[in-house]
Amino acid sequence: MKRIERDARRRVTLTLNGAQRSGWCESRTLLSDFLRHELGATGTHVGCEHGVCGACTVRVDGMAVRTCLMLAVQADGRRVDTVEGLAGTQAMNALQLAFKRHHALQCGFCTPGILMSVSQFLERVPEPSEQQVRELLSGHLCRCTGYTTIVQAVLDAAAVQRETSGA
Ligand code: FES
Ligand code: FES
Repeated sequence: MKRIERDARRRVTLTLNGAQRSGWCESRTLLSDFLRHELGATGTHVGCEHGVCGACTVRVDGMAVRTCLMLAVQADGRRVDTVEGLAGTQAMNALQLAFKRHHALQCGFCTPGILMSVSQFLERVPEPSEQQVRELLSGHLCRCTGYTTIVQAVLDAAAVQRETSGA
């Protein structure tokens, strides 16, 4: 009987929130599973596993990426930023503080993914309209909030960031 060879384990090294981290995975392992189970970055949530809900979003080399649609081996040698590193050395950054001020979360399951998408969005669009924010959020499913408070939080965070940067 022909023996089916098992997938060889691969070593993946990446920069996670500024620190070099390594782990082992199979070539088919999703980046979401690698981050959560191998590197312990459980702030990256997994909902649909089909690229629909946005809960698993992180930033890879600065770009917002759905980690259920990316293999861990594709992240080898790249910079990965997750919600755990969003505030840097602070307790919360301006965006997280705005979410707190506006009560923009309830269960919080969708929140890390939204924060990572919005963090990239505000770098690209520092003065967004409500419509632009709603278009961005259309890629994220939230079953709790009705989105209104999230939109308010993003617009508020944008204003705070512009004020802070003197723009
Ligand atoms: S878990 Fe990745 S988009 Fe839903
Ligand atoms: S706060 Fe519960 S899913 Fe968004």
